[in-house]
Amino acid sequence: MISIKHLNKKDIDLCYELDSNANSLWSKEQWANEFKKDGTKIVGLLIKNLVIGICVFQIVLDEAQINYFVVNKKFRKKGFGSYLMRYLIKKCKKLNLKKLLLEVSQSNVTAERFYSRFEFSTVGIRKNYYKDGSHALLKEKKLTTK
Ligand SMILES: CC(C)(COP(=O)(O)OP(=O)(O)OC[C@H]1O[C@@H](n2cnc3c(N)ncnc32)[C@H](O)[C@@H]1OP(=O)(O)O)[C@@H](O)C(=O)NCCC(=O)NCCS
Repeated sequence: MISIKHLNKKDIDLCYELDSNANSLWSKEQWANEFKKDGTKIVGLLIKNLVIGICVFQIVLDEAQINYFVVNKKFRKKGFGSYLMRYLIKKCKKLNLKKLLLEVSQSNVTAERFYSRFEFSTVGIRKNYYKDGSHALLKEKKLTTK
């Protein structure tokens, strides 16, 4: 039974735990800050009551920036990431947004392939952006409401 729900500040610990086992991108304090930001939405992908995926996105004018996108390691390559991305695209189209934007490391081949499948195209590059010296690819997907 898969579902998607909006997370709130009561869920900071679970966001932090999922991230610690995946990207280790944000501290607990940073997660707490994400929940305070205007225009930022945090959604969880659940199997029964277990959160196995998280997407953080921020709406600015008619664009949405994906700031975080993860699926728990144990549940990858089963279509869950695609499920969450399809949800996000549908939601943004409903809100009449024109673009989805994100940054991904050039060395993150899995994520790049994943985003390419959803027709994100590279529109810019930030050289040596990450700590390991890898470049950040700026990607966007135009949203058309057909
Ligand atoms: C990128 C990420 C979110 C993808 O999540 P996921 O749940 O594995 O995504 P999916 O299962 O929908 O798709 C992944 C691949 O598995 C394949 N797949 C899906 N279901 C499958 C199945 N039943 N059997 C075999 N392969 C399958 C998909 O075709 C896809 O392959 P492709 O990318 O080569 O086209 C996940 O790898 C992740 O969390 N990575 C770490 C965090 C990260 O890098 N985030 C992005 C940073 S910006």
